[in-house]
Amino acid sequence: MHILRSLDELSAWRAAHCPCVLVPTMGNLHAGHLALIERARTLALPVISSLFVNPLQFGPGEDYKRYPRTFDADRSALEAAACDALFAPEAATLYPYKQTYRVWPPALADDLCGAHRPGHFDGVLTVVLKLFNLVQPAAAVFGKKDYQQLALIAGMVREFNLPIRLLAGETVRQSDGLALSSRNAYLDAAARTEAPRLAHLLREAASQLASGRRDYARIESATRDTLVRHGWRVDYIAIRDPALSEPGPGETDFVVLGAARLGDVRLIDNLEVGDPAAFPYNHLSL
Ligand code: PAF
Repeated sequence: MHILRSLDELSAWRAAHCPCVLVPTMGNLHAGHLALIERARTLALPVISSLFVNPLQFGPGEDYKRYPRTFDADRSALEAAACDALFAPEAATLYPYKQTYRVWPPALADDLCGAHRPGHFDGVLTVVLKLFNLVQPAAAVFGKKDYQQLALIAGMVREFNLPIRLLAGETVRQSDGLALSSRNAYLDAAARTEAPRLAHLLREAASQLASGRRDYARIESATRDTLVRHGWRVDYIAIRDPALSEPGPGETDFVVLGAARLGDVRLIDNLEVGDPAAFPYNHLSL
């Protein structure tokens, strides 16, 4: 596997290996990331993963400094997954001067996670656009665990006419239902035991929707109350349609999303309910 640190190394690799598929990550890789690499490999093109903890997407007081940085383990995992190249720039390589231009996202960026992490999605979209420009991939893969992020990236690709095909990877879970996340590493033993409750409650809400309930606000507040009773601080529990708009009473397809904190660890998760064909991110190819 080629390790690329500088923009010159990246452009030499690109000249020799593109068209390619990009899997952007912030490192501390787990089976969810490796499933994205596997998804990328199905396109039979060289696969490049980026590993960059993007300062622009962390707010003041968030975990930028303590975000787990595990370069050696990540490199071995990518090698074992037959990834062809790893682009791992320093912050000064991607941001050699203050980044004053940003992607200006739509209102969706201020909703859900964006309502609790102001500016987060501007930072995500800005770094993803930079990575797209630098790597110039034919396709890129993102996980559905970050459903709102995926929706915003898909919108950016569509509205800026970026010539990149997007693929979405399913959320990978531990046997008790907990969605894999780099932030699970912050959970102490008691919090780790409690953490799967978020996925279980989202699943319960999903099955109520599947069985015909349409009293969305009640389902959301019951889910929120149960989490609070078990010591969580809830950012949001939301039932949305596949495009993340408020669902109408006749809606049949939903995403149930949640973000909540156990101590200072913030976990997010989501589940789709309904016809898989109704979810734009199940057949992305823009
Ligand atoms: O999902 C992530 O890991 C990050 O938000 C991304 C897309 C790599 C941008 O920094």
